[in-house]
Amino acid sequence: MKTHRTQVLIVGAGPSGLLLGQLLHRAGIDSLIVERASATHVRQRIRAGVLEPGTVALLEEAGVADRLHREGLLHHGIELMVDGCRHRIDLQALVGRSVTVYGQTELTRDLMEARAASGRPCWYDAQQVHLDTWDGSEVRARCEVEGVTREIVADFVAGCDGYHGICRASVPAEALRCYEKVYPFGWLGLLSDTPPVSHELIYGRHERGFSLCSMRSPTRSRYYLQVPLSEQVHHWNDQRFWQELRCRMDPATAEQLVTGPALEMSIAPLRSFVAEPMRFGRLFLAGDAAHIVPPTGAKGLNLAASDIRYLSQALIEFYSGGPPTGLDHYSSRCLARIWKAERFSWWMTTLLHGFDHEPPIQHKLQRAELDYLLSSEAAQRVLAENYVGLPI
Ligand code: APR
Ligand code: PHB
Repeated sequence: MKTHRTQVLIVGAGPSGLLLGQLLHRAGIDSLIVERASATHVRQRIRAGVLEPGTVALLEEAGVADRLHREGLLHHGIELMVDGCRHRIDLQALVGRSVTVYGQTELTRDLMEARAASGRPCWYDAQQVHLDTWDGSEVRARCEVEGVTREIVADFVAGCDGYHGICRASVPAEALRCYEKVYPFGWLGLLSDTPPVSHELIYGRHERGFSLCSMRSPTRSRYYLQVPLSEQVHHWNDQRFWQELRCRMDPATAEQLVTGPALEMSIAPLRSFVAEPMRFGRLFLAGDAAHIVPPTGAKGLNLAASDIRYLSQALIEFYSGGPPTGLDHYSSRCLARIWKAERFSWWMTTLLHGFDHEPPIQHKLQRAELDYLLSSEAAQRVLAENYVGLPI
C-alpha cells in the first residue's frame, strides 16, 4: 500500500478545509486535502454569501480576497419587512461596520484556485475515507483514490467534512455531547438571473410565513420562502414561487420585483446543532462538522471561518516550536463564539418565522419582540452587533 506523509490531513474541501489548507500553506505547513465529491460538484454547490468583516480580514490574510474586493457588494444595512412595512437596520450607523455579500460559490472557486496554485495535493473523488488512529503519536488514515487504497500518516487531522462527514462519526458516542433542535419548517430557495428587488437584503415576517430577498450580484438574485417541512420541491414551479413571494411583500416592493426563470430551486431544512468538544487527541473538528445554525442571520460560513482562524493559528504556533496552548484551548475558544452565534441564529429564526402549531401566547410574545425591536435603538444595536459578527 502506498503511504502519503503530510503534516496536517484535512478531510473535506468545503470552505473550512480549503481555507485551512491555504492559511497553513502561507505559513509553510504541508497538508493533504481528501474530498469525497468531485471538484465539479464542490465548485457548483449553492450556499449563502454574507461575510462578516472578520471573515473578510481572514480571507485577506489567506491571500484570496482580491476578487472578493472587486466583485463583493458592501452592505451597510439590512431591512426587516414586517406586515407590509419596511424598516432599515443601519448596521454602519449602529455599530460602525458593514457586511460583504459574496456568494459562497465564488469564494469556493477562489479557494480552489489558490489550492491548485499552491501545488499542494487535494484528492477529489476520494472514497471510503477512514480514520484508523488519532490518539497516539500520529494520525493514520486510509482512503481509495481511483480504485487504489492509499494510507496517510500525519501529525494532525482536521475534520472539515461537514455535518454528514466521517470525522465526527469516528469519535465514540460517549466522548461526544450533541445538542440539536430541528425547526418545523424549511426554506425553499430560488436563484435567478434577475436584478435584486432592493440593493440590500430584506428579511420578511408575514402571516403567510418568512421570506428573504437576497442576492449574489447586481444581476443575480436569491430568494427564500418559509415552507412546511413536508413540502416537496416538485410541487413548486417558478410562477407559484413568484406569486407566493409577492403575497408576502408590501405592495410597493411586490411592484418592483423582477421575476424570471429559476436557475435552481431547492428546499433546505433548518437546524441548530453543536457537538462538544471539538478536539479529540490529534483530531480537530471545524465548521459544519461540529455545528449547524439555521440560515437566518447567515452565520454558517462565518462560524466556519472563525474556527479555522483559531485552528490555523494554533497549528502555526505549534510548528513554530511554541507550547501547544492554542491547540489545548481550540475547543473552548471556538465553542464560546459558536454558542453566541447559535443563540443569535435561533433568536432571528424565532423572531421572523411563522410557528403555526405553537400556543397563542407564543405569537403574542413574538409580536412584542418585533415591536420592541422596531421601536428601540438599543435592541437594533444588539441585532446589528451580532449580524456583523462578534469579535473573533
Ligand atoms: N470524506 C471526504 N470528504 C467528505 C466526506 C467524507 N467522508 N464527507 C463529506 N465530505 C466533504 C463534503 O463533500 C464537502 O465538500 O466535506 C465537505 C464539507 O463541506 P461543507 O459542508 O461546505 O462544510 P464546511 O467546509 O465546514 O463549510 C461551512 O459552508 O456548507 C456551508 O452552511 C455551511 O456556510 C457553512 C460553511
Ligand atoms: C443567501 O443569500 O443565500 C442568504 C443571505 C442571508 C441569509 C441566508 C441566506 O441570512
